[in-house]
Amino acid sequence: MTAKDAAHFDDWYARLSTSAAREELVRRHLDLPPLLLVTGLVPGSGLDDVTVALRLVPDDVLLDLGCGRGGYGLEVATRTRARLVGVDASAEAVRQARANAEAQAQDADFRVGDLADTGLEADSVDAVMCLDSVQFSLRDLNTYAEVRRVLRPGGRVVMTAWEARDRDDEEVPQALRTLDVAFGLQRAGFEEVEREVCDDWSVREKALWEEAVSLDPGDDAGLAGLAEEGRTVLATFDRVDRVMVSATSPD
Ligand SMILES: C[S@@+](CC[C@H](N)C(=O)[O-])C[C@H]1O[C@@H](n2cnc3c(N)ncnc32)[C@H](O)[C@@H]1O
Repeated sequence: MTAKDAAHFDDWYARLSTSAAREELVRRHLDLPPLLLVTGLVPGSGLDDVTVALRLVPDDVLLDLGCGRGGYGLEVATRTRARLVGVDASAEAVRQARANAEAQAQDADFRVGDLADTGLEADSVDAVMCLDSVQFSLRDLNTYAEVRRVLRPGGRVVMTAWEARDRDDEEVPQALRTLDVAFGLQRAGFEEVEREVCDDWSVREKALWEEAVSLDPGDDAGLAGLAEEGRTVLATFDRVDRVMVSATSPD
């Protein structure tokens, strides 16, 4: 990620941190536990699916790649008693993730790094979760290779994202037209690649955007940002699939 892109995310996270109304709206629609600070849009039931697919056992090392404010990773680590490492390109997101862990008295190692260049040792993690982040990677094929490099043989990866139903549909943002997570993982040598279209997640997400665009945000920057994003997303909402892709690193 370029310094300019990282600065964009830093600014985004700084605005989010001031909006309790945004947090309430997102948690209510996605049915998430009260303390979860997220910027992705995986609902509570989806997080259950992600957790099962990761096949973690206590003391495993879990990498939350593109961890944002760390909410999902902290929740999965608590449920499974895994040790959490979180990597994100935004220093502001990492700062908030560390504060979030401290507030919950949870041990976690959050660091600044790139999806395609985490700075972690080879074979050093047992599982990787990458929720709603891979579409931001300009070099996403390198991201799959990086996940393969850091995962131990037999380790699991779970990625969630949105992909265009028709890759020639020029109305859909370019990033989602080129994204093909299952293909990327296969090409990087992963086995047991499974792609699921999660229509029930989409129902919750759409309701969230519809409420966000209908509200008067007043001077709440978090709500205003959500409404702006909602208008863009709703324009092509029914032209993308909500996907969860899981895979195993070869032995
Ligand atoms: C939609 S947020 C999701 C964050 C988190 N996974 C969640 O669901 O709450 C996408 C995240 O990807 C991070 N990101 C985008 N491009 C990245 C890159 N090239 N390397 C590392 N992180 C990146 C952003 O900073 C942001 O925190």
